[in-house]
Amino acid sequence: MAIIKYLGHAAFEIVLTGLDGAEKTILIDPWINNPNSPVKLEDYKNRKIDYIFVTHDHGDHLGNAIDIAKLTGAKLVGIFEIALYAQEQGVKTVDGNIGGRLRIDDIYAVLTPAYHSSNRGAPTGVVISGKDVTVYHAGDTGLFCEMSLIGELYQPDIALLPIGGHYTMGVKEAVKAVQMIRPKIAIPMHYNTFPPIRTNPEEFKKLVESTTPIKVVILKPGETLAYP
Ligand code: NI
Ligand code: MN
Repeated sequence: MAIIKYLGHAAFEIVLTGLDGAEKTILIDPWINNPNSPVKLEDYKNRKIDYIFVTHDHGDHLGNAIDIAKLTGAKLVGIFEIALYAQEQGVKTVDGNIGGRLRIDDIYAVLTPAYHSSNRGAPTGVVISGKDVTVYHAGDTGLFCEMSLIGELYQPDIALLPIGGHYTMGVKEAVKAVQMIRPKIAIPMHYNTFPPIRTNPEEFKKLVESTTPIKVVILKPGETLAYP
Protein backbone atom coordinates (compact mmCIF):
# COMPACT_ATOMS: atom_id res chain seq x y z
CA MET A 1 0.00 0.00 0.00
CA ALA A 2 0.94 3.64 -0.21
CA ILE A 3 0.17 6.75 1.80
CA ILE A 4 0.68 9.95 -0.16
CA LYS A 5 0.96 13.26 1.69
CA TYR A 6 0.98 16.53 -0.23
CA LEU A 7 3.49 19.08 1.07
CA GLY A 8 2.48 21.86 -1.36
CA HIS A 9 3.84 22.80 -4.83
CA ALA A 10 5.51 19.62 -6.25
CA ALA A 11 6.54 18.16 -2.88
CA PHE A 12 5.21 14.84 -1.59
CA GLU A 13 5.95 12.45 1.24
CA ILE A 14 5.12 8.87 0.32
CA VAL A 15 5.11 5.84 2.58
CA LEU A 16 5.41 2.79 0.39
CA THR A 17 5.61 -0.92 1.20
CA GLY A 18 8.94 -2.13 -0.17
CA LEU A 19 9.67 -5.46 -1.86
CA ASP A 20 10.77 -6.78 1.55
CA GLY A 21 7.38 -5.88 3.08
CA ALA A 22 8.83 -3.06 5.20
CA GLU A 23 7.64 0.56 4.96
CA LYS A 24 9.89 3.03 3.15
CA THR A 25 9.45 6.77 3.62
CA ILE A 26 10.17 8.75 0.47
CA LEU A 27 10.23 12.47 -0.27
CA ILE A 28 9.90 13.82 -3.79
CA ASP A 29 11.02 17.37 -4.67
CA PRO A 30 10.97 18.52 -1.03
CA TRP A 31 10.85 22.30 -1.37
CA ILE A 32 9.33 22.59 2.07
CA ASN A 33 10.04 26.31 2.23
CA ASN A 34 7.18 26.68 -0.26
CA PRO A 35 4.54 29.18 0.88
CA ASN A 36 1.87 26.48 1.39
CA SER A 37 4.06 23.89 3.14
CA PRO A 38 2.56 22.22 6.22
CA VAL A 39 6.06 21.22 7.47
CA LYS A 40 9.30 22.95 8.43
CA LEU A 41 12.91 21.86 8.09
CA GLU A 42 13.18 21.32 11.88
CA ASP A 43 10.36 18.76 11.67
CA TYR A 44 12.78 16.41 9.92
CA LYS A 45 15.31 16.36 12.77
CA ASN A 46 14.04 13.11 14.27
CA ARG A 47 12.37 11.65 11.22
CA LYS A 48 13.30 8.44 9.42
CA ILE A 49 13.42 9.28 5.71
CA ASP A 50 14.80 6.57 3.43
CA TYR A 51 15.00 8.26 0.03
CA ILE A 52 14.70 11.75 -1.40
CA PHE A 53 13.98 11.94 -5.13
CA VAL A 54 14.79 15.15 -6.99
CA THR A 55 13.30 15.46 -10.49
CA HIS A 56 15.40 18.39 -11.66
CA ASP A 57 17.68 21.19 -10.57
CA HIS A 58 15.37 24.14 -10.08
CA GLY A 59 15.04 25.83 -6.70
CA ASP A 60 11.40 24.81 -6.27
CA HIS A 61 12.32 21.09 -6.69
CA LEU A 62 15.87 20.58 -5.38
CA GLY A 63 14.49 22.83 -2.64
CA ASN A 64 15.54 21.58 0.81
CA ALA A 65 16.61 18.13 -0.42
CA ILE A 66 20.27 18.52 0.60
CA ASP A 67 19.39 19.90 4.05
CA ILE A 68 16.92 17.10 4.73
CA ALA A 69 19.37 14.45 3.48
CA LYS A 70 21.96 15.83 5.91
CA LEU A 71 19.47 15.88 8.80
CA THR A 72 18.12 12.38 8.21
CA GLY A 73 20.84 10.43 6.41
CA ALA A 74 18.38 9.72 3.57
CA LYS A 75 19.79 8.76 0.18
CA LEU A 76 19.24 11.39 -2.50
CA VAL A 77 18.22 9.88 -5.84
CA GLY A 78 18.39 11.77 -9.11
CA ILE A 79 20.06 12.14 -12.45
CA PHE A 80 23.86 11.79 -12.48
CA GLU A 81 24.70 15.52 -12.34
CA ILE A 82 22.37 16.27 -9.42
CA ALA A 83 23.58 13.19 -7.53
CA LEU A 84 27.19 14.27 -8.09
CA TYR A 85 26.42 17.75 -6.74
CA ALA A 86 24.70 16.27 -3.68
CA GLN A 87 27.59 13.88 -3.09
CA GLU A 88 29.97 16.86 -3.10
CA GLN A 89 27.85 18.29 -0.25
CA GLY A 90 28.48 15.11 1.76
CA VAL A 91 25.14 13.45 1.07
CA LYS A 92 24.58 9.73 0.33
CA THR A 93 23.29 9.37 -3.22
CA VAL A 94 22.03 7.03 -5.89
CA ASP A 95 22.67 8.31 -9.40
CA GLY A 96 20.78 7.23 -12.45
CA ASN A 97 19.72 8.42 -15.86
CA ILE A 98 16.65 8.51 -18.03
CA GLY A 99 15.07 5.17 -18.89
CA GLY A 100 17.19 2.85 -16.75
CA ARG A 101 15.38 0.93 -14.05
CA LEU A 102 17.09 1.32 -10.68
CA ARG A 103 16.83 -1.23 -7.92
CA ILE A 104 17.39 0.79 -4.77
CA ASP A 105 17.44 -1.60 -1.82
CA ASP A 106 13.81 -2.74 -1.73
CA ILE A 107 12.13 -0.41 -4.21
CA TYR A 108 12.38 0.14 -7.95
CA ALA A 109 12.63 3.53 -9.64
CA VAL A 110 12.89 4.76 -13.21
CA LEU A 111 13.77 8.31 -14.18
CA THR A 112 11.50 9.37 -17.03
CA PRO A 113 11.86 12.12 -19.61
CA ALA A 114 10.40 15.57 -18.94
CA TYR A 115 10.01 18.47 -21.38
CA HIS A 116 11.55 21.23 -19.32
CA SER A 117 14.97 22.69 -18.39
CA SER A 118 17.38 22.18 -15.50
CA ASN A 119 20.56 23.79 -14.16
CA ARG A 120 22.48 20.53 -13.64
CA GLY A 121 21.65 17.47 -15.74
CA ALA A 122 18.48 16.89 -17.72
CA PRO A 123 15.02 17.34 -16.24
CA THR A 124 13.20 14.13 -15.30
CA GLY A 125 10.10 12.64 -13.80
CA VAL A 126 10.21 9.47 -11.75
CA VAL A 127 8.26 6.22 -11.48
CA ILE A 128 8.63 4.59 -8.07
CA SER A 129 7.42 1.05 -7.38
CA GLY A 130 7.16 -0.83 -4.13
CA LYS A 131 5.72 -4.28 -3.56
CA ASP A 132 2.21 -3.48 -4.75
CA VAL A 133 1.87 0.20 -5.68
CA THR A 134 3.50 2.29 -8.42
CA VAL A 135 3.57 6.09 -8.33
CA TYR A 136 4.54 8.38 -11.22
CA HIS A 137 5.68 11.94 -10.38
CA ALA A 138 5.95 13.76 -13.71
CA GLY A 139 8.27 16.51 -12.44
CA ASP A 140 7.95 19.80 -14.31
CA THR A 141 7.01 19.02 -17.87
CA GLY A 142 5.04 19.91 -20.92
CA LEU A 143 2.87 17.25 -22.47
CA PHE A 144 4.69 14.57 -24.48
CA CYS A 145 3.50 11.51 -26.39
CA GLU A 146 5.76 9.05 -24.55
CA MET A 147 3.55 9.49 -21.48
CA SER A 148 1.41 6.74 -23.03
CA LEU A 149 4.50 4.51 -23.04
CA ILE A 150 5.10 5.29 -19.36
CA GLY A 151 1.49 4.24 -18.73
CA GLU A 152 1.81 1.08 -20.78
CA LEU A 153 5.18 -0.07 -19.39
CA TYR A 154 4.90 0.81 -15.71
CA GLN A 155 1.12 1.00 -15.18
CA PRO A 156 1.25 3.58 -12.41
CA ASP A 157 -1.59 3.38 -9.90
CA ILE A 158 -1.18 7.03 -9.03
CA ALA A 159 0.05 9.90 -11.25
CA LEU A 160 1.17 13.21 -9.75
CA LEU A 161 0.85 15.79 -12.53
CA PRO A 162 1.57 19.51 -12.84
CA ILE A 163 -1.52 21.52 -13.87
CA GLY A 164 -0.47 25.13 -13.20
CA GLY A 165 0.50 26.11 -16.74
CA HIS A 166 3.09 28.80 -17.58
CA TYR A 167 6.19 26.64 -16.79
CA THR A 168 4.51 23.24 -17.17
CA MET A 169 1.37 21.61 -18.49
CA GLY A 170 -1.83 23.45 -17.71
CA VAL A 171 -5.24 21.87 -17.22
CA LYS A 172 -5.90 21.16 -20.92
CA GLU A 173 -2.56 19.35 -21.39
CA ALA A 174 -2.74 17.56 -18.03
CA VAL A 175 -6.16 16.12 -18.90
CA LYS A 176 -4.63 14.67 -22.07
CA ALA A 177 -1.71 13.35 -19.98
CA VAL A 178 -4.12 11.47 -17.71
CA GLN A 179 -5.87 10.00 -20.76
CA MET A 180 -2.50 8.73 -22.03
CA ILE A 181 -1.08 7.45 -18.70
CA ARG A 182 -4.36 5.91 -17.50
CA PRO A 183 -3.54 5.65 -13.78
CA LYS A 184 -6.20 4.70 -11.23
CA ILE A 185 -5.88 8.07 -9.52
CA ALA A 186 -4.46 11.42 -10.65
CA ILE A 187 -3.35 14.05 -8.15
CA PRO A 188 -2.73 17.62 -9.39
CA MET A 189 0.35 19.55 -8.29
CA HIS A 190 2.46 22.62 -9.19
CA TYR A 191 -0.39 25.14 -9.08
CA ASN A 192 -1.47 28.11 -6.91
CA THR A 193 1.99 28.51 -5.34
CA PHE A 194 2.55 31.90 -7.02
CA PRO A 195 0.47 34.10 -9.37
CA PRO A 196 1.59 32.80 -12.84
CA ILE A 197 0.49 29.24 -11.96
CA ARG A 198 -2.89 30.14 -10.45
CA THR A 199 -5.30 27.42 -11.61
CA ASN A 200 -8.58 25.85 -10.52
CA PRO A 201 -7.95 22.13 -9.81
CA GLU A 202 -11.72 21.48 -9.80
CA GLU A 203 -11.73 22.17 -13.53
CA PHE A 204 -9.04 19.48 -14.01
CA LYS A 205 -11.08 17.06 -11.90
CA LYS A 206 -14.29 17.75 -13.84
CA LEU A 207 -12.63 17.31 -17.25
CA VAL A 208 -10.81 14.07 -16.30
CA GLU A 209 -13.78 12.49 -14.55
CA SER A 210 -16.21 13.36 -17.37
CA THR A 211 -13.96 11.80 -20.05
CA THR A 212 -12.34 8.83 -18.25
CA PRO A 213 -13.07 6.37 -15.41
CA ILE A 214 -10.02 7.80 -13.61
CA LYS A 215 -10.49 9.52 -10.26
CA VAL A 216 -8.87 12.87 -9.48
CA VAL A 217 -8.00 13.46 -5.84
CA ILE A 218 -7.27 17.08 -4.98
CA LEU A 219 -5.07 17.17 -1.89
CA LYS A 220 -4.69 20.35 0.12
CA PRO A 221 -1.18 20.77 1.54
CA GLY A 222 -0.95 18.50 4.61
CA GLU A 223 -3.68 16.13 3.40
CA THR A 224 -3.03 12.45 2.68
CA LEU A 225 -4.42 9.75 0.42
CA ALA A 226 -4.14 6.08 1.35
CA TYR A 227 -4.08 3.64 -1.57
CA PRO A 228 -5.58 1.17 -2.16
NI1 NI B 1 11.35 23.53 -13.06
MN1 MN C 1 8.84 23.95 -10.87
